[in-house]
This record gives sequence, structure tokens and C-alpha cells, in this order.
Amino acid sequence: MNYRHAFHAGNFADCMKHALFIELLSALQRKEKPLLVLDSHAGIGRYDLSTGPAEQTGEWRDGIARVLAARPQALGAYTGWVERLGLYPGSPAIAAAMLRPQDRLVACELHPQDAAALKRQFAGCARVGIHARDGYAALRAFLPPPERRALILIDPPFEDRDEFATLSEHVIASYEKFKTGCYVLWYPIKHRAPTRAFFESMRLSPVRDIITVEFLRRPAQDPARLNGCGLMIINPPYGFTEAAAPMLAAFEAAFGEPGCSSGIEHLTDA
Ligand SMILES: C[S@@+](CC[C@H](N)C(=O)[O-])C[C@H]1O[C@@H](n2cnc3c(N)ncnc32)[C@H](O)[C@@H]1O
Repeated sequence: MNYRHAFHAGNFADCMKHALFIELLSALQRKEKPLLVLDSHAGIGRYDLSTGPAEQTGEWRDGIARVLAARPQALGAYTGWVERLGLYPGSPAIAAAMLRPQDRLVACELHPQDAAALKRQFAGCARVGIHARDGYAALRAFLPPPERRALILIDPPFEDRDEFATLSEHVIASYEKFKTGCYVLWYPIKHRAPTRAFFESMRLSPVRDIITVEFLRRPAQDPARLNGCGLMIINPPYGFTEAAAPMLAAFEAAFGEPGCSSGIEHLTDA
């Protein structure tokens, strides 16, 4: 396990993922019923961007720093949470802050040091459970939840050549057990071949109601660079695509280089 999210916290991909995640969670919280948030690959939750790994790469300067400088209206909910939470928040910190009294967060992190940091951060938070375990196995362990409603974020590091195949295999198996959850799968876009195969495996699966939301800061031609990223969303909440469109336009304005693009596609019908 070489990947440490601290080197990449606050980059453009983090901004896109978190802004859309906040929109999804807010949409699901429009119903009063309790909700489980399951974060399978959680990271350490809070990141000091002014020092250590984040300062070393400086990726955040080309990410969250641009968003905070431009303050686009469409990303107002996201910038609001980033400012309220102080130290730059990762997905479990955002989810924990947004929980209502009836909601729960389960966050899994496999790296022993990162899991320990996460446990320290949420010690004493009754509605937050931190588990030092494999996030894919956790999908089987925690789903379906007693609440029968869940937002499931799956955000693996993609260090492994087979990560796309592993991801689709585990998501398809979870869906078989729990068909009504809202699953959110983050994926990198370097070039198109790996995502095409991933989409095809999901399209041919029993999973229904899948959309992809993508932002490419430049054309996906150089396989050595993170040219863009996407979220594959299963069972997106009502109204989500309409809310996501202006957010994508804001990403283009903040991060776009010549040839940038974004889009929302329906991969399979409901
Ligand atoms: C991209 S980062 C997560 C970032 C976090 N979701 C956020 O948005 O703030 C991926 C994390 O997954 C962890 N990880 C890698 N393999 C894992 C596994 N099999 N199960 C759980 N966590 C894993 C890594 O240590 C890393 O912290």
C-alpha cells in the first residue's frame, strides 16, 4: 500500500468528488428516514495543506485553492463545508459533519497508520464507526443496512492494475444483496481504454439505473497523467443530474485547460 491520500488532498479530483458527494448526501437527506453513509476507502479525514505531503506536491494549489478563489455559486455548498470544517476535510469528515441525529457513518481504511489517525479523530463520536479493514469486504459486511437506505462511497487508490475489475466485481456483488442503495464509484480518467472496459462490465451486469458524471480538464490522451475523473452513480437521487450540470460547468471554469469537457451519461436505465 504505497498510496497516501495526503499527497493528493485538495486536488481537482478531490474537489469534484466531494462537491458532488455533498450534493448526493443532501438530496438523500431530503427524506426524514435514517440513512447509512458507508465510506469504503476513507483516508485520514482531515488534511493540513500547508505542510507535509500536501505542501510537497502542491496539488491543492491547482485544486481547492482555485475553487476558493473563484467561489462559483454552483459550488457554494462545497466551499461552505470546506470553510466551516477548518482543516481541509476528506470524505469521512464531510459525511460526519453532515450526519443528522438519525444517520450513521461507517468508514473503512486499510492502511494501519491512516486507520489509526481516523480512529483518533472520531473517538467518542457515537454515530461514526471506524474500521481498519478492507473496504471491499466491508460492502458485504455492512450491506444491506438496518436503515434500508445508504449512500456508499467507493474511492479506491487505483494503484493496482486490476482495480477497475475488482471495483466492478465487488459492486455487482453488493448490488445483488442491496439493490436500492445509492452507490458512488470514483474513477480516474487517464485514457479511455480502461474506462470503456469498466463501463461495459457494468452495462452487462444486472445493475440498473447507472449514470456517469465526468470532468476532463484536458483531452484524455496522455496515459501518464490524471486528465480527468468521473463518478459512476447507481440509483442517483431524483433531481441530481439537474443539480450536477452547473457544478460541472464550474469545474470547467476553475480547472479547464484547452480541450476540457464534462458530461453526464446514462449507462443503464432504471
Ligand atoms: C483515494 S483515498 C480515499 C480518499 C477519501 N475517500 C476522501 O475522499 O477523502 C484511498 C484510500 O483507500 C485506502 N485503501 C487502499 N486499499 C484499501 C482497501 N482495500 N480497503 C480500504 N481502504 C483502502 C488508502 O490507504 C487510501 O487512504
